[in-house]
Amino acid sequence: EPTRLWGGRFAGGPAEALARLSLSVHFDWRLAPYDIAGSRAHARVLARAGLLDADELGRMLAALDDLAAACAAGEFTPTVEDEDVHTALERGLLERLGTLGGKLRAGRSRNDQVATDLRLYLRDHVRGLAGRLVDLVEALTEQARNNVDTPAPGMTHLQHAQPISFGHQLLAHVQSFGRDLDRLADWDTRAAYSPLGAGALAGSSLPLDPAAVATELGFDAPCANSIDAVSDRDFAAEFLFDAALIGVHLSRLGEEIVLWTSQEFGWVELDDAFATGSSIMPQKKNPDVGELARGKAGRLLGNLTGLLATLKSLPLAYDRDLQEDKEPVFDAIDTLEVLLPALTGLVTTMTVRADVLAAAAPQGYTLATEVADWLVRRGVPFRDAHEISGALVALCLSRGCALDEVSDADLAAVSDRLTPQVREVLSVPGALAARTTPGSTGPGPVTDQLAALDAKVTGW
Ligand code: ARG
Repeated sequence: EPTRLWGGRFAGGPAEALARLSLSVHFDWRLAPYDIAGSRAHARVLARAGLLDADELGRMLAALDDLAAACAAGEFTPTVEDEDVHTALERGLLERLGTLGGKLRAGRSRNDQVATDLRLYLRDHVRGLAGRLVDLVEALTEQARNNVDTPAPGMTHLQHAQPISFGHQLLAHVQSFGRDLDRLADWDTRAAYSPLGAGALAGSSLPLDPAAVATELGFDAPCANSIDAVSDRDFAAEFLFDAALIGVHLSRLGEEIVLWTSQEFGWVELDDAFATGSSIMPQKKNPDVGELARGKAGRLLGNLTGLLATLKSLPLAYDRDLQEDKEPVFDAIDTLEVLLPALTGLVTTMTVRADVLAAAAPQGYTLATEVADWLVRRGVPFRDAHEISGALVALCLSRGCALDEVSDADLAAVSDRLTPQVREVLSVPGALAARTTPGSTGPGPVTDQLAALDAKVTGW
């Protein structure tokens, strides 16, 4: 006879088709340790309310410990007869305690239980995720530290724009992951409320102590409204947004690494351990990790939009639709748990080809803005300076030469303001060194940026 948590008013058992639709234990079983933690706290509160005597509480807690150990060891597992994790665990308790096991459900509903379990699961796993994100931040920061003085072509529209420090480019990614880490920490302040005590939706007539339960489970406080407690999934949606944005950031880094490793760029060489081959083309070395970062961002976005669609127009308090909250959340956690270490390994082991980057940095007339700025420093309005520098670029394009390869006479022919002294700004290291304002790509500000990140990373 299956341990159904309901049935008194029903003439028979559920239809097979309903049971199969209703089943969630195959994915919510991972909530078991959190459900048991909630049960321990609830048992103590029932005892303090006089609803379990000291002996019963002792036996209840021992059975919960034994059940937790059996679950962890894989000795107690759910069956398809168990509708969900809560049903399975009540069966485990009844197997250990007989009728005493049936006392734990007093004052509690699966509605407040499942909301609590998912919050506990997420708060726990988000901490782990933040740690993996810090690993990636550290890998990027280390590569950046080694490339503060590596010039590279900075891009806009994926076209050569102005010379930059390659370290600065890497740190731009670190800045977005830093905001992600701040967001995850901030998310936790709103997730740290305990639904237990809300019951099905209305609270309980039994003298429970939601505040004590909240404290025991590491929450800041119980939820303020029992209806909100069982119907709110903001914490899940907000986490999925954070996960989707992390995915978007990973996809942008992944895409850049894919570009950088192409024949056409050749800026970065991947370690063999983080590249893949082709089943037909023996010479191939493919950047699959970067590509999977791009691809998995799509499913992270899907998880967010899927949950938001589930929540839209849902009446309060609990509806069974809410059972659909868990798979997108679990998938987001699972996806990031495999993606982040792979990208961290990719970044840690990749070789930056500083010589190729330095040679590419001035190409595409990336110093043309320096010429215009040099003219501005000599009193030429920027509008005119832009025209003059553009005319010099046009001349060089027609000759197929670089900016510093034209003669003094050619410079003068473009504009009488272009004296030979302009050559002093036609160097990539010079252009970088001239950038000293905070946040810019010169070696000074990039070093300052690294120091500020080193100070921040200890807080993450
Ligand atoms: N498995 C359910 C869920 O994930 C648990 C809550 C079920 N509550 C109910 N009244 N049927 O949401």
